[in-house]
Amino acid sequence: MPFLATLYFRTAIIFLIVGIGIGLHMSISGNHGVMGAHAHLNLLGWVTSALFGTYYALNPLKAAGRLSLLQYGVYVIGIVIMIPALYALLSGNAGAEPIVAMGSLIVFAGVLLFGWIIFSGDNAAARNDLRQPAE
Ligand code: HEM
Repeated sequence: MPFLATLYFRTAIIFLIVGIGIGLHMSISGNHGVMGAHAHLNLLGWVTSALFGTYYALNPLKAAGRLSLLQYGVYVIGIVIMIPALYALLSGNAGAEPIVAMGSLIVFAGVLLFGWIIFSGDNAAARNDLRQPAE
């Protein structure tokens, strides 16, 4: 499996563990106020990251380019900025709103980059690297 796919799955499981932690905390405390942070961490952080990782696992040529590593970095940094800020906002810290906005725009940029990667052709350098030697 390409390194980037492994990286996406490792990142995704960390997001799921934290996301479930928030869910359990909501359940135990009876306060569901941070539901939005829980839902977005699980869906953007776990489900979508695992889908990105699956795509890269199935398309090693796409995973090999530098653009795909940039896509990972942008997407994950966006989540790491957005979710704690959203948690703070939903916990009553109105000042966190601009940070939520910035994080969500970075997440969106990561998604647009992924769209670009899906629609673009295979990375030529990667294709040469992965090509089996001719018999
Ligand atoms: C042990 C694991 C989990 C626990 C304890 C948990 C707990 C909760 C709780 C307490 C709520 C608030 C419900 C409400 O106030 O109506 C909630 C909402 C939500 N959870 Fe989880 N959750 C878990 C796993 C997940 C996972 C894995 C996902 C997605 C992949 C997820 C997605 C959502 C969504 C989308 C909502 C919002 C539902 C709505 O708008 O009514 N949760 N969860």
